[in-house]
Amino acid sequence: MKKNRSDSRRNFIKKMAVSAAAVATGGNVMAKENKTVHYKLKNKRPADINDNINIALIGSGGMGVQDAITALSTPGVKMVAACDLYDGRLKEAKDRWGKDLFTTRHYKEVLMRKDVDAVIVATPDHWHQQISVDAMKAGKHVYCEKPMVHSITEGPAVIQAQKETGKIFQVGSQGVSSLGNEKAKELLKEGAIGALNYAEGFWARHSPVGAWQYPIPEDASPETVDWETYISNTTKRPFDAMRFFRWRNYLDYGTGMSGDLFVHLFSSLHFITNSYGPDKVYSSGGLRYWKDGREVPDVLLGTFDYPESKMHPAFNLSLRCNFVDGTSGTTYLKLVGSEGSMDVTWDSVVLKRNKETASDDPFFIEQMKKAGKPLGDRKRILPPEEIKFEAEKNYKGGPYDHFVNFFTAIRNGGQVVEDAIFGYRAAAPALLCIDSYNNDMAISWNPEKMQLIKK
Ligand SMILES: NC(=O)c1ccc[n+]([C@@H]2O[C@H](COP(=O)([O-])OP(=O)(O)OC[C@H]3O[C@@H](n4cnc5c(N)ncnc54)[C@H](O)[C@@H]3O)[C@@H](O)[C@H]2O)c1
Repeated sequence: MKKNRSDSRRNFIKKMAVSAAAVATGGNVMAKENKTVHYKLKNKRPADINDNINIALIGSGGMGVQDAITALSTPGVKMVAACDLYDGRLKEAKDRWGKDLFTTRHYKEVLMRKDVDAVIVATPDHWHQQISVDAMKAGKHVYCEKPMVHSITEGPAVIQAQKETGKIFQVGSQGVSSLGNEKAKELLKEGAIGALNYAEGFWARHSPVGAWQYPIPEDASPETVDWETYISNTTKRPFDAMRFFRWRNYLDYGTGMSGDLFVHLFSSLHFITNSYGPDKVYSSGGLRYWKDGREVPDVLLGTFDYPESKMHPAFNLSLRCNFVDGTSGTTYLKLVGSEGSMDVTWDSVVLKRNKETASDDPFFIEQMKKAGKPLGDRKRILPPEEIKFEAEKNYKGGPYDHFVNFFTAIRNGGQVVEDAIFGYRAAAPALLCIDSYNNDMAISWNPEKMQLIKK
Protein backbone atom coordinates (compact mmCIF):
# COMPACT_ATOMS: atom_id res chain seq x y z
CA MET A 1 0.00 0.00 0.00
CA LYS A 2 2.78 2.40 1.03
CA LYS A 3 4.76 1.40 -2.03
CA ASN A 4 1.73 2.09 -4.28
CA ARG A 5 1.26 5.52 -2.80
CA SER A 6 4.87 6.57 -3.25
CA ASP A 7 4.79 5.13 -6.79
CA SER A 8 1.74 7.18 -7.61
CA ARG A 9 3.29 10.29 -6.07
CA ARG A 10 6.34 9.77 -8.30
CA ASN A 11 3.99 9.43 -11.29
CA PHE A 12 2.34 12.70 -10.45
CA ILE A 13 5.63 14.54 -10.02
CA LYS A 14 6.92 13.08 -13.32
CA LYS A 15 3.76 14.17 -15.09
CA MET A 16 3.97 17.66 -13.61
CA ALA A 17 7.58 17.93 -14.79
CA VAL A 18 6.47 17.09 -18.34
CA SER A 19 3.67 19.64 -18.07
CA ALA A 20 6.09 22.25 -16.77
CA ALA A 21 8.11 21.68 -19.92
CA ALA A 22 4.88 22.19 -21.87
CA VAL A 23 4.51 25.61 -20.22
CA ALA A 24 7.84 26.59 -21.67
CA THR A 25 7.02 25.24 -25.13
CA GLY A 26 3.39 26.42 -25.20
CA GLY A 27 1.83 22.94 -24.91
CA ASN A 28 -1.65 22.21 -23.60
CA VAL A 29 -1.48 24.76 -20.86
CA MET A 30 -3.89 27.67 -21.14
CA ALA A 31 -2.12 30.40 -19.24
CA LYS A 32 0.32 31.02 -16.46
CA GLU A 33 -0.90 33.77 -14.15
CA ASN A 34 1.12 34.67 -11.10
CA LYS A 35 1.55 31.41 -9.27
CA THR A 36 -1.52 29.69 -10.68
CA VAL A 37 -1.18 27.39 -13.65
CA HIS A 38 -4.36 26.64 -15.61
CA TYR A 39 -5.09 23.47 -17.56
CA LYS A 40 -8.01 22.68 -19.83
CA LEU A 41 -10.10 19.60 -19.02
CA LYS A 42 -11.24 17.89 -22.20
CA ASN A 43 -14.32 15.78 -22.60
CA LYS A 44 -13.20 12.66 -24.41
CA ARG A 45 -16.51 10.83 -24.46
CA PRO A 46 -17.63 9.60 -27.88
CA ALA A 47 -21.15 10.50 -28.98
CA ASP A 48 -22.13 7.01 -30.14
CA ILE A 49 -25.79 7.13 -31.01
CA ASN A 50 -27.63 4.16 -32.34
CA ASP A 51 -31.24 3.47 -31.46
CA ASN A 52 -33.78 5.94 -30.20
CA ILE A 53 -34.59 5.63 -26.53
CA ASN A 54 -38.10 6.56 -25.38
CA ILE A 55 -38.29 8.00 -21.91
CA ALA A 56 -41.08 8.81 -19.47
CA LEU A 57 -40.96 11.12 -16.50
CA ILE A 58 -42.46 10.06 -13.15
CA GLY A 59 -42.61 13.12 -10.90
CA SER A 60 -42.80 16.13 -13.22
CA GLY A 61 -41.72 18.80 -10.75
CA GLY A 62 -38.65 21.01 -10.60
CA MET A 63 -35.88 18.43 -10.95
CA GLY A 64 -37.84 15.99 -13.08
CA VAL A 65 -38.39 18.65 -15.73
CA GLN A 66 -34.69 19.64 -15.61
CA ASP A 67 -33.68 15.98 -15.91
CA ALA A 68 -36.01 15.43 -18.87
CA ILE A 69 -34.71 18.57 -20.62
CA THR A 70 -31.13 17.36 -20.13
CA ALA A 71 -31.99 13.82 -21.24
CA LEU A 72 -33.68 15.17 -24.38
CA SER A 73 -30.64 17.33 -25.17
CA THR A 74 -28.61 14.13 -25.67
CA PRO A 75 -28.98 12.60 -29.14
CA GLY A 76 -31.58 9.92 -29.93
CA VAL A 77 -33.91 10.39 -26.96
CA LYS A 78 -37.67 10.98 -27.15
CA MET A 79 -40.18 11.89 -24.45
CA VAL A 80 -43.38 9.82 -24.57
CA ALA A 81 -45.11 10.10 -21.20
CA ALA A 82 -45.27 12.06 -17.95
CA CYS A 83 -46.82 11.17 -14.61
CA ASP A 84 -47.52 13.43 -11.65
CA LEU A 85 -49.95 13.68 -8.75
CA TYR A 86 -50.71 17.37 -9.29
CA ASP A 87 -52.80 18.26 -12.36
CA GLY A 88 -50.97 21.58 -12.84
CA ARG A 89 -47.72 19.71 -13.49
CA LEU A 90 -49.38 17.42 -16.05
CA LYS A 91 -50.76 20.45 -17.90
CA GLU A 92 -47.29 22.04 -17.87
CA ALA A 93 -45.83 18.81 -19.26
CA LYS A 94 -48.27 18.87 -22.20
CA ASP A 95 -47.58 22.58 -22.75
CA ARG A 96 -43.84 21.85 -22.82
CA TRP A 97 -43.68 18.57 -24.73
CA GLY A 98 -46.83 18.66 -26.88
CA LYS A 99 -50.48 17.71 -26.59
CA ASP A 100 -49.77 14.15 -27.76
CA LEU A 101 -47.70 13.41 -24.65
CA PHE A 102 -49.38 10.68 -22.60
CA THR A 103 -50.04 12.01 -19.09
CA THR A 104 -51.41 10.28 -16.02
CA ARG A 105 -51.58 10.36 -12.23
CA HIS A 106 -50.82 6.64 -12.04
CA TYR A 107 -47.19 5.61 -12.54
CA LYS A 108 -48.17 1.99 -13.19
CA GLU A 109 -49.93 3.15 -16.38
CA VAL A 110 -46.56 4.49 -17.55
CA LEU A 111 -44.86 1.22 -16.67
CA MET A 112 -47.45 -0.77 -18.66
CA ARG A 113 -46.67 1.14 -21.88
CA LYS A 114 -44.64 -0.84 -24.39
CA ASP A 115 -43.22 2.32 -25.97
CA VAL A 116 -41.39 3.36 -22.77
CA ASP A 117 -37.77 2.15 -22.59
CA ALA A 118 -36.60 4.10 -19.54
CA VAL A 119 -38.13 6.17 -16.77
CA ILE A 120 -36.80 9.11 -14.79
CA VAL A 121 -38.02 8.86 -11.18
CA ALA A 122 -38.06 12.39 -9.75
CA THR A 123 -40.75 12.14 -7.11
CA PRO A 124 -40.17 13.07 -3.45
CA ASP A 125 -37.80 10.63 -1.76
CA HIS A 126 -40.43 8.40 -0.12
CA TRP A 127 -41.49 7.07 -3.54
CA HIS A 128 -38.06 6.33 -5.04
CA GLN A 129 -37.70 2.75 -3.90
CA GLN A 130 -41.17 1.49 -4.78
CA ILE A 131 -41.37 3.11 -8.21
CA SER A 132 -37.79 2.12 -9.12
CA VAL A 133 -38.34 -1.52 -8.16
CA ASP A 134 -41.72 -1.67 -9.96
CA ALA A 135 -40.18 -0.03 -13.03
CA MET A 136 -37.25 -2.46 -13.29
CA LYS A 137 -39.63 -5.39 -12.77
CA ALA A 138 -41.77 -3.99 -15.60
CA GLY A 139 -38.69 -4.09 -17.85
CA LYS A 140 -37.77 -0.41 -17.77
CA HIS A 141 -34.34 1.12 -17.28
CA VAL A 142 -34.37 3.63 -14.42
CA TYR A 143 -32.70 6.97 -13.75
CA CYS A 144 -33.66 7.60 -10.11
CA GLU A 145 -33.04 10.91 -8.41
CA LYS A 146 -30.96 11.06 -5.25
CA PRO A 147 -31.09 9.97 -2.51
CA MET A 148 -31.69 6.51 -3.94
CA VAL A 149 -33.90 5.60 -0.97
CA HIS A 150 -35.80 7.32 1.83
CA SER A 151 -34.69 5.04 4.65
CA ILE A 152 -31.70 2.81 5.35
CA THR A 153 -33.94 -0.27 5.22
CA GLU A 154 -34.97 0.33 1.60
CA GLY A 155 -31.64 -0.08 -0.22
CA PRO A 156 -31.34 -3.88 -0.51
CA ALA A 157 -34.64 -4.18 -2.46
CA VAL A 158 -33.37 -1.80 -5.15
CA ILE A 159 -30.02 -3.60 -5.39
CA GLN A 160 -31.84 -6.94 -5.67
CA ALA A 161 -34.24 -5.67 -8.36
CA GLN A 162 -31.32 -4.37 -10.42
CA LYS A 163 -29.50 -7.68 -10.07
CA GLU A 164 -32.54 -9.81 -10.91
CA THR A 165 -33.79 -7.78 -13.84
CA GLY A 166 -30.42 -6.78 -15.34
CA LYS A 167 -31.89 -3.38 -16.13
CA ILE A 168 -29.69 -0.28 -16.13
CA PHE A 169 -30.22 1.70 -12.96
CA GLN A 170 -28.50 5.02 -12.39
CA VAL A 171 -28.86 7.34 -9.38
CA GLY A 172 -29.00 11.07 -10.10
CA SER A 173 -26.03 12.59 -8.26
CA GLN A 174 -24.89 13.99 -11.56
CA GLY A 175 -21.56 15.40 -10.30
CA VAL A 176 -19.96 11.96 -10.42
CA SER A 177 -20.00 11.99 -14.22
CA SER A 178 -18.44 15.44 -14.44
CA LEU A 179 -15.01 16.32 -15.77
CA GLY A 180 -14.17 17.90 -12.41
CA ASN A 181 -14.83 14.70 -10.44
CA GLU A 182 -13.03 12.64 -13.08
CA LYS A 183 -9.92 14.86 -12.87
CA ALA A 184 -9.93 14.78 -9.06
CA LYS A 185 -10.04 10.97 -9.12
CA GLU A 186 -7.11 10.88 -11.52
CA LEU A 187 -5.08 13.37 -9.46
CA LEU A 188 -5.70 11.51 -6.20
CA LYS A 189 -4.59 8.24 -7.84
CA GLU A 190 -1.44 9.93 -9.16
CA GLY A 191 -0.54 11.04 -5.65
CA ALA A 192 -1.04 14.76 -6.29
CA ILE A 193 -2.02 15.47 -2.68
CA GLY A 194 -0.07 12.64 -1.06
CA ALA A 195 -1.97 10.39 1.33
CA LEU A 196 -5.56 11.50 1.91
CA ASN A 197 -6.29 12.17 5.59
CA TYR A 198 -9.26 14.58 5.63
CA ALA A 199 -12.12 15.86 3.49
CA GLU A 200 -14.77 18.49 4.00
CA GLY A 201 -17.85 19.72 2.24
CA PHE A 202 -20.19 22.62 2.72
CA TRP A 203 -23.55 23.86 1.47
CA ALA A 204 -24.67 27.39 2.36
CA ARG A 205 -27.94 29.15 1.49
CA HIS A 206 -29.98 32.01 2.78
CA SER A 207 -33.26 32.43 0.93
CA PRO A 208 -36.80 31.10 1.35
CA VAL A 209 -36.64 28.94 -1.77
CA GLY A 210 -33.10 27.80 -0.86
CA ALA A 211 -34.53 26.81 2.54
CA TRP A 212 -37.36 24.86 0.83
CA GLN A 213 -40.22 27.36 1.24
CA TYR A 214 -41.50 26.79 -2.29
CA PRO A 215 -44.55 28.63 -3.66
CA ILE A 216 -47.82 26.73 -3.27
CA PRO A 217 -50.07 26.90 -6.35
CA GLU A 218 -53.33 28.82 -5.80
CA ASP A 219 -55.43 25.96 -7.13
CA ALA A 220 -53.87 23.35 -4.78
CA SER A 221 -56.75 21.24 -3.39
CA PRO A 222 -57.79 17.60 -2.94
CA GLU A 223 -59.34 17.88 -6.43
CA THR A 224 -56.14 18.96 -8.22
CA VAL A 225 -53.77 16.87 -6.05
CA ASP A 226 -53.95 13.08 -5.66
CA TRP A 227 -53.24 13.26 -1.91
CA GLU A 228 -54.44 9.72 -1.16
CA THR A 229 -51.85 8.21 -3.49
CA TYR A 230 -49.16 10.57 -2.20
CA ILE A 231 -49.55 9.32 1.38
CA SER A 232 -50.51 5.75 0.51
CA ASN A 233 -47.09 4.39 1.56
CA THR A 234 -46.67 6.54 4.69
CA THR A 235 -48.55 8.11 7.63
CA LYS A 236 -52.23 8.80 6.89
CA ARG A 237 -53.19 12.49 7.32
CA PRO A 238 -55.76 14.90 5.92
CA PHE A 239 -54.83 16.92 2.83
CA ASP A 240 -52.03 19.40 3.57
CA ALA A 241 -50.65 21.48 0.68
CA MET A 242 -47.52 22.36 2.69
CA ARG A 243 -46.68 18.68 3.08
CA PHE A 244 -47.22 18.12 -0.62
CA PHE A 245 -45.42 21.12 -2.16
CA ARG A 246 -42.81 21.63 0.60
CA TRP A 247 -42.23 17.95 1.20
CA ARG A 248 -38.50 18.33 1.98
CA ASN A 249 -39.39 19.79 5.39
CA TYR A 250 -41.19 16.65 6.60
CA LEU A 251 -39.63 13.31 7.43
CA ASP A 252 -42.45 11.17 6.00
CA TYR A 253 -41.40 12.32 2.51
CA GLY A 254 -37.97 13.99 2.66
CA THR A 255 -34.60 13.15 4.16
CA GLY A 256 -33.50 16.54 5.53
CA MET A 257 -30.36 18.40 4.56
CA SER A 258 -28.18 15.31 4.64
CA GLY A 259 -30.38 13.21 2.35
CA ASP A 260 -30.99 16.15 0.07
CA LEU A 261 -27.53 17.72 -0.10
CA PHE A 262 -24.82 15.77 1.74
CA VAL A 263 -25.64 12.83 -0.51
CA HIS A 264 -24.12 14.70 -3.48
CA LEU A 265 -20.89 15.18 -1.54
CA PHE A 266 -20.81 11.51 -0.52
CA SER A 267 -21.34 10.50 -4.13
CA SER A 268 -18.50 12.67 -5.41
CA LEU A 269 -16.18 11.72 -2.57
CA HIS A 270 -16.83 8.00 -3.03
CA PHE A 271 -16.32 8.30 -6.77
CA ILE A 272 -13.03 10.18 -6.36
CA THR A 273 -11.62 7.92 -3.63
CA ASN A 274 -13.28 4.62 -4.72
CA SER A 275 -14.51 4.44 -1.13
CA TYR A 276 -17.34 2.27 0.16
CA GLY A 277 -18.11 4.82 2.85
CA PRO A 278 -17.63 5.64 6.52
CA ASP A 279 -17.95 3.22 9.43
CA LYS A 280 -19.04 5.87 11.95
CA VAL A 281 -21.54 8.70 11.59
CA TYR A 282 -22.34 11.46 14.02
CA SER A 283 -24.28 14.66 13.49
CA SER A 284 -25.54 17.68 15.39
CA GLY A 285 -27.33 20.88 14.45
CA GLY A 286 -30.53 22.73 15.17
CA LEU A 287 -33.51 24.64 13.85
CA ARG A 288 -32.36 28.25 14.13
CA TYR A 289 -34.46 30.34 11.81
CA TRP A 290 -36.93 28.70 9.39
CA LYS A 291 -39.49 27.85 12.09
CA ASP A 292 -42.36 27.16 9.72
CA GLY A 293 -43.44 23.83 11.18
CA ARG A 294 -40.64 21.87 9.58
CA GLU A 295 -39.37 18.68 11.21
CA VAL A 296 -35.76 19.03 10.10
CA PRO A 297 -32.87 21.28 11.23
CA ASP A 298 -31.69 24.25 9.16
CA VAL A 299 -28.10 24.01 10.40
CA LEU A 300 -26.53 20.56 10.27
CA LEU A 301 -23.01 19.27 10.91
CA GLY A 302 -21.92 15.72 10.24
CA THR A 303 -18.66 13.97 11.03
CA PHE A 304 -17.75 10.67 9.44
CA ASP A 305 -14.86 8.23 10.03
CA TYR A 306 -13.60 6.43 6.94
CA PRO A 307 -11.65 3.30 7.88
CA GLU A 308 -8.51 2.25 6.03
CA SER A 309 -9.38 0.08 3.06
CA LYS A 310 -7.75 -1.38 -0.05
CA MET A 311 -8.73 1.81 -1.87
CA HIS A 312 -7.63 4.54 0.56
CA PRO A 313 -6.00 5.28 3.91
CA ALA A 314 -8.17 6.06 6.94
CA PHE A 315 -9.48 9.62 6.79
CA ASN A 316 -12.08 11.89 8.38
CA LEU A 317 -14.89 13.79 6.71
CA SER A 318 -16.66 16.88 7.97
CA LEU A 319 -19.84 18.06 6.22
CA ARG A 320 -21.83 21.18 7.03
CA CYS A 321 -25.00 22.74 5.75
CA ASN A 322 -26.38 26.11 6.76
CA PHE A 323 -29.65 27.61 5.49
CA VAL A 324 -29.15 30.80 7.52
CA ASP A 325 -25.78 31.67 6.13
CA GLY A 326 -25.33 35.44 6.22
CA THR A 327 -22.41 35.35 3.79
CA SER A 328 -22.93 35.13 0.06
CA GLY A 329 -23.36 31.38 0.34
CA THR A 330 -21.16 28.77 -1.21
CA THR A 331 -20.78 25.06 -1.80
CA TYR A 332 -17.55 23.12 -1.91
CA LEU A 333 -15.80 19.80 -1.57
CA LYS A 334 -12.18 19.74 -0.45
CA LEU A 335 -9.85 16.77 -0.13
CA VAL A 336 -6.73 17.19 1.98
CA GLY A 337 -3.64 15.00 1.92
CA SER A 338 -0.16 14.97 3.38
CA GLU A 339 1.24 16.98 0.44
CA GLY A 340 -1.57 19.24 -0.66
CA SER A 341 -5.28 19.68 -1.19
CA MET A 342 -7.87 19.74 -3.96
CA ASP A 343 -10.99 21.90 -4.23
CA VAL A 344 -13.33 19.97 -6.47
CA THR A 345 -16.32 21.21 -8.47
CA TRP A 346 -18.09 19.68 -11.43
CA ASP A 347 -16.01 21.64 -13.92
CA SER A 348 -12.79 22.45 -12.12
CA VAL A 349 -10.18 21.21 -9.69
CA VAL A 350 -7.87 23.58 -7.86
CA LEU A 351 -4.83 21.70 -6.66
CA LYS A 352 -2.65 23.29 -3.99
CA ARG A 353 0.65 21.63 -3.20
CA ASN A 354 3.11 22.19 -0.39
CA LYS A 355 6.22 24.11 -1.33
CA GLU A 356 9.29 21.93 -0.82
CA THR A 357 10.66 24.11 2.03
CA ALA A 358 9.41 27.63 2.34
CA SER A 359 12.29 29.95 3.27
CA ASP A 360 9.73 32.51 4.47
CA ASP A 361 8.12 30.03 6.89
CA PRO A 362 8.46 31.76 10.31
CA PHE A 363 8.73 28.42 12.11
CA PHE A 364 11.53 27.29 9.80
CA ILE A 365 13.37 30.65 10.21
CA GLU A 366 13.09 30.44 14.00
CA GLN A 367 14.35 26.86 14.08
CA MET A 368 17.34 27.74 11.90
CA LYS A 369 18.14 30.76 14.10
CA LYS A 370 17.98 28.61 17.23
CA ALA A 371 20.28 26.07 15.66
CA GLY A 372 22.67 28.88 14.70
CA LYS A 373 22.50 27.85 11.05
CA PRO A 374 22.59 30.36 8.19
CA LEU A 375 19.33 30.69 6.29
CA GLY A 376 21.06 30.91 2.96
CA ASP A 377 20.18 33.64 0.53
CA ARG A 378 20.35 31.82 -2.79
CA LYS A 379 16.95 31.99 -4.52
CA ARG A 380 15.34 28.67 -5.34
CA ILE A 381 12.96 27.48 -8.02
CA LEU A 382 9.57 26.91 -6.42
CA PRO A 383 6.82 24.74 -7.81
CA PRO A 384 3.51 26.51 -8.61
CA GLU A 385 1.42 27.05 -5.47
CA GLU A 386 -1.80 26.42 -7.28
CA ILE A 387 -2.74 24.50 -10.39
CA LYS A 388 -6.23 25.06 -11.75
CA PHE A 389 -7.77 22.49 -14.03
CA GLU A 390 -10.82 23.94 -15.78
CA ALA A 391 -13.31 22.46 -18.22
CA GLU A 392 -13.12 23.73 -21.78
CA LYS A 393 -15.54 26.46 -22.78
CA ASN A 394 -18.93 25.07 -23.89
CA TYR A 395 -18.54 22.01 -21.64
CA LYS A 396 -22.09 20.69 -21.30
CA GLY A 397 -21.63 19.78 -17.66
CA GLY A 398 -22.08 16.91 -15.21
CA PRO A 399 -25.86 16.55 -15.71
CA TYR A 400 -25.41 16.08 -19.47
CA ASP A 401 -22.52 13.62 -18.98
CA HIS A 402 -24.57 11.69 -16.42
CA PHE A 403 -27.40 11.12 -18.89
CA VAL A 404 -24.92 10.26 -21.66
CA ASN A 405 -23.45 7.69 -19.26
CA PHE A 406 -26.97 6.29 -18.58
CA PHE A 407 -28.04 6.11 -22.24
CA THR A 408 -24.67 4.72 -23.39
CA ALA A 409 -25.03 1.91 -20.83
CA ILE A 410 -28.56 1.18 -22.13
CA ARG A 411 -27.41 1.15 -25.76
CA ASN A 412 -24.23 -0.87 -25.23
CA GLY A 413 -25.33 -3.00 -22.29
CA GLY A 414 -22.53 -1.40 -20.27
CA GLN A 415 -22.05 -0.10 -16.77
CA VAL A 416 -23.20 3.15 -15.21
CA VAL A 417 -21.05 5.12 -12.86
CA GLU A 418 -23.70 5.31 -10.11
CA ASP A 419 -25.56 2.01 -9.90
CA ALA A 420 -27.76 0.75 -7.06
CA ILE A 421 -24.85 -0.38 -4.88
CA PHE A 422 -23.01 2.90 -5.36
CA GLY A 423 -26.26 4.81 -4.80
CA TYR A 424 -26.98 2.95 -1.58
CA ARG A 425 -23.44 3.45 -0.27
CA ALA A 426 -23.81 7.19 -0.90
CA ALA A 427 -27.33 7.42 0.53
CA ALA A 428 -26.66 5.34 3.65
CA PRO A 429 -24.33 7.75 5.54
CA ALA A 430 -26.60 10.64 4.55
CA LEU A 431 -29.65 8.85 5.96
CA LEU A 432 -27.74 7.74 9.07
CA CYS A 433 -26.76 11.36 9.59
CA ILE A 434 -30.39 12.38 10.10
CA ASP A 435 -30.97 9.30 12.27
CA SER A 436 -27.96 10.33 14.36
CA TYR A 437 -29.34 13.87 14.73
CA ASN A 438 -32.81 12.65 15.69
CA ASN A 439 -31.55 10.06 18.18
CA ASP A 440 -28.55 12.09 19.42
CA MET A 441 -26.11 9.25 19.02
CA ALA A 442 -23.21 8.08 16.88
CA ILE A 443 -24.10 5.25 14.49
CA SER A 444 -21.77 2.47 13.34
CA TRP A 445 -22.07 1.14 9.81
CA ASN A 446 -20.31 -1.56 7.83
CA PRO A 447 -19.81 0.15 4.47
CA GLU A 448 -18.57 -2.93 2.69
CA LYS A 449 -21.42 -5.22 3.74
CA MET A 450 -23.85 -2.26 3.80
CA GLN A 451 -25.16 -3.17 7.25
CA LEU A 452 -25.77 -1.37 10.51
CA ILE A 453 -23.48 -2.46 13.33
CA LYS A 454 -25.36 -2.98 16.56
CA LYS A 455 -23.34 -2.23 19.69
N1 LIG B 1 -29.82 15.78 -8.60
C1 LIG B 1 -30.10 16.99 -8.18
O1 LIG B 1 -29.30 17.92 -8.28
C2 LIG B 1 -31.46 17.25 -7.60
C3 LIG B 1 -31.91 18.57 -7.44
C4 LIG B 1 -33.20 18.77 -6.94
C5 LIG B 1 -33.98 17.68 -6.59
N2 LIG B 1 -33.50 16.41 -6.73
C6 LIG B 1 -34.32 15.25 -6.36
O2 LIG B 1 -35.40 15.15 -7.28
C7 LIG B 1 -36.57 14.67 -6.62
C8 LIG B 1 -37.72 15.66 -6.85
O3 LIG B 1 -37.38 16.91 -6.28
P1 LIG B 1 -38.04 18.26 -6.82
O4 LIG B 1 -37.28 19.37 -6.28
O5 LIG B 1 -38.21 18.15 -8.28
O6 LIG B 1 -39.47 18.19 -6.11
P2 LIG B 1 -40.85 18.75 -6.69
O7 LIG B 1 -41.80 18.82 -5.54
O8 LIG B 1 -40.61 19.98 -7.49
O9 LIG B 1 -41.33 17.61 -7.69
C9 LIG B 1 -41.77 16.35 -7.26
C10 LIG B 1 -42.97 15.98 -8.11
O10 LIG B 1 -43.32 14.63 -7.85
C11 LIG B 1 -44.75 14.54 -7.87
N3 LIG B 1 -45.12 13.32 -7.14
C12 LIG B 1 -45.17 13.09 -5.80
N4 LIG B 1 -45.46 11.81 -5.55
C13 LIG B 1 -45.61 11.21 -6.75
C14 LIG B 1 -45.95 9.89 -7.16
N5 LIG B 1 -46.18 8.90 -6.27
N6 LIG B 1 -46.09 9.64 -8.48
C15 LIG B 1 -45.87 10.59 -9.40
N7 LIG B 1 -45.55 11.86 -9.08
C16 LIG B 1 -45.41 12.16 -7.78
C17 LIG B 1 -45.21 15.84 -7.23
O11 LIG B 1 -46.51 16.15 -7.60
C18 LIG B 1 -44.19 16.83 -7.79
O12 LIG B 1 -44.65 17.45 -8.98
C19 LIG B 1 -36.20 14.51 -5.15
O13 LIG B 1 -35.85 13.17 -4.89
C20 LIG B 1 -34.96 15.38 -4.98
O14 LIG B 1 -34.09 14.93 -3.98
C21 LIG B 1 -32.26 16.19 -7.25
